[in-house]
Amino acid sequence: MIHQPIAVMASGHGTNLAVLLEQSSKDQCPVEVRVVISNKFDAPALRIARDAGVPTVLFINPKEYPNRIAFDKACAQAIKDAGCQWVVLAGYMRILSSEFVKSFENQLINIHPSLLPAFAGADGAGDALAYGAKVAGCTVHVVNEEVDGGPILAQAVVPVLNDDTRDSLHARIQLEEYKLYPETIRRLVEHGYRLDGRRVIWND
Ligand code: GRF
Repeated sequence: MIHQPIAVMASGHGTNLAVLLEQSSKDQCPVEVRVVISNKFDAPALRIARDAGVPTVLFINPKEYPNRIAFDKACAQAIKDAGCQWVVLAGYMRILSSEFVKSFENQLINIHPSLLPAFAGADGAGDALAYGAKVAGCTVHVVNEEVDGGPILAQAVVPVLNDDTRDSLHARIQLEEYKLYPETIRRLVEHGYRLDGRRVIWND
């Protein structure tokens, strides 16, 4: 199986990263995580990456850069130096500059814990619960300059239960993320897609 080199950017727990690394090691997802970048010094995602032997694991400190463009440029350079084809955001909690987005056009993807376009923003699961939605879920999308606004690659639905809290709902959404993200990445790498307006038309 040919493994495409990818970079993962993560600010938090890194559980999606852990699933990707595991699936990659078992040949279930045709990617090789070559670079992991975090903007948080103590992100568990960095430890997960180091423990898994990812060749380049970087904490890039936003405070060392004069602005967002300069910070993003340092990230982009590290990704390009490692020859990565795809950039996968997995709980990356920084808004990306349009320069960064343009330099990885159609090669930059994100997973968001809601059924977009509903409940974009920092707390997709909590917002769906508070609104009273009866179904929640997760969305994998291409990243464009609008936050959580790029073309939709795949979605999975999770019912909202009577006794759900924000955390219980988010935990069940994450179980779906662990299936949907690697599966969507596999389709991207193996088949690809074309865009018809905002619609993603898969080649498979
Ligand atoms: C996920 O719920 C994802 O949808 C959102 O951030 C969370 C990251 O979780 N973008 P983890 O760091 O992979 O555990």
